[in-house]
Amino acid sequence: MEEAGLAVTRDDFGNVIGRLRGSRSDLPEVWAGSHLDSVPHGGRYDGALGVVAAIHAVSTIGASARTLGVVAFRDEERGCFGSRALARSGLLPGRFVELHVEQGPVLEREGVPLGVVTGIVGSTRREVVFDGAAGHAGTSPMATRDDALVRAAEYVLRVRDAAQAIDGAVATVGVVEVEPGAANVIPGRVRLTVDARAPDGERLGRLLAALDLDQGVDLEPVELGPSIRSILREEVERVAGRAVELPSGAGHDAGVLSAAGVETGMLFVRSLNGGVSHSPEELSSDEDIALAVDVLTATLRRLAS
Ligand code: GLV
Ligand code: MN
Ligand code: MN
Repeated sequence: MEEAGLAVTRDDFGNVIGRLRGSRSDLPEVWAGSHLDSVPHGGRYDGALGVVAAIHAVSTIGASARTLGVVAFRDEERGCFGSRALARSGLLPGRFVELHVEQGPVLEREGVPLGVVTGIVGSTRREVVFDGAAGHAGTSPMATRDDALVRAAEYVLRVRDAAQAIDGAVATVGVVEVEPGAANVIPGRVRLTVDARAPDGERLGRLLAALDLDQGVDLEPVELGPSIRSILREEVERVAGRAVELPSGAGHDAGVLSAAGVETGMLFVRSLNGGVSHSPEELSSDEDIALAVDVLTATLRRLAS
């Protein structure tokens, strides 16, 4: 950011923001960006691409009427920590655009390099604890055991079945910790995580109820408004001929900002290898990325003028 001539600050939540001051400091700022954190054994593009692309776009555009900002949000993967804190603080831009890899197969299947995001799923993550009775694996009869892992395993199957029963819903148990965790000890306690998602609040509510979880929503489902979406569509048509629109099953900082009232748009770059993500196999082509940076640059130029 500094090499690109931006004035860089780190806010109280660990978000890094680089600004190029505009001539109209009375107008709300226009930001682009994404996140730099990743998941264990994650890919190279999820998040980081959107930050690098935003730096490139802003430095290409140069000083404008509105102040341009590039943001690298803190800790997106564990639930959009940085953007949620920013939203709560109210220190928000007026407009935000996030470029991100699709992380799914739609654009590859459609044979197009770019897509415009229509909305972002709602999601809730919770930790669930199962208590049983630890004991000797050799001497405790099967009939008298209270094995915490057996009960947790039944719940994992319930998680799968509940999501399968609701159109568009998904749910995942991604972490399981067994205590005391020895081959010859009956598990006395299991802690697991549930990540539950659905395209709208009604379906997310039904999913949470089916899993005996509270009705709290961590990331609100959002529909991205028409203003930036229509600009993105025009610019995608300009560089790629056809603008495919699609929803996002992944959570994004863009969803948090949109839910907080920021005028928000989101651009997807085609993911190759069947759209695999949260994996080292994640891949997008340099050619597609160049088109996406072109669209981001043109869109920000229009939003900042
Ligand atoms: C972010 O990658 C998420 O959707 O969990
Ligand atoms: Mn991401
Ligand atoms: Mn991710």
